[in-house]
Amino acid sequence: MNIAVLLSGRGSNFMAIHRAVSDGEIRDSKIVSVISSRPGAKGLEYAIERGLNGKFLSPKDYASPAQYDTAIAGELEANGAEVVCLAGYMRIATEVLVDRYYGRIMNIHPSLLPAFQGLDAQKQALEYGVKLSGCTVHFVDNGVDTGPIIAQRGVDVYDNDTVKSLSERILEQEHLLYPYVLSLFEQGKIKVEGRRVYINQ
Ligand code: GAR
Repeated sequence: MNIAVLLSGRGSNFMAIHRAVSDGEIRDSKIVSVISSRPGAKGLEYAIERGLNGKFLSPKDYASPAQYDTAIAGELEANGAEVVCLAGYMRIATEVLVDRYYGRIMNIHPSLLPAFQGLDAQKQALEYGVKLSGCTVHFVDNGVDTGPIIAQRGVDVYDNDTVKSLSERILEQEHLLYPYVLSLFEQGKIKVEGRRVYINQ
């Protein structure tokens, strides 16, 4: 399976996916394209240093988000992407991307959706006072963090947690969850029907 990754920053989820491809946890896939929406993103540097096909596409070069996504889609198609992973991608994918890749475009979010959609999910969770949070991998639809949920992992929230400590604990789980989902996806074990996603082990 040809994997493409869209990111904007640190890229630790992308690195976890890359590690899983290298280690054979994701057995029959390769990363064909890494696109950053920000210049100098750590994730992009990591990709380029490892000889992957990494590219910065500047949103400022396009008149609208839809035009930006048309350029992204062109890049993805040129590289034969079969699944698109948003990994710390701090833009909202427009329907140009979503409709073209629906069922093959995923995102990871640092909360147990549908709780705490959007930005600063870990801060939202702490402020709300939940005792359990976690992360979610979901298919991307035309809403923000609203697509069908593929898999989740929970973490306890402790009384002395800060945004930093909670984020770090959730991130550890993110790094396990995304590779797990991709390994199932490449084996054709994930089926989406409406809002329900079924995993055939
Ligand atoms: C991760 O925690 C990811 O879940 C989150 O940003 C971080 C990116 O880290 N994404 C969102 O909040 C998207 N709404 P990374 O760049 O090290 O993978």
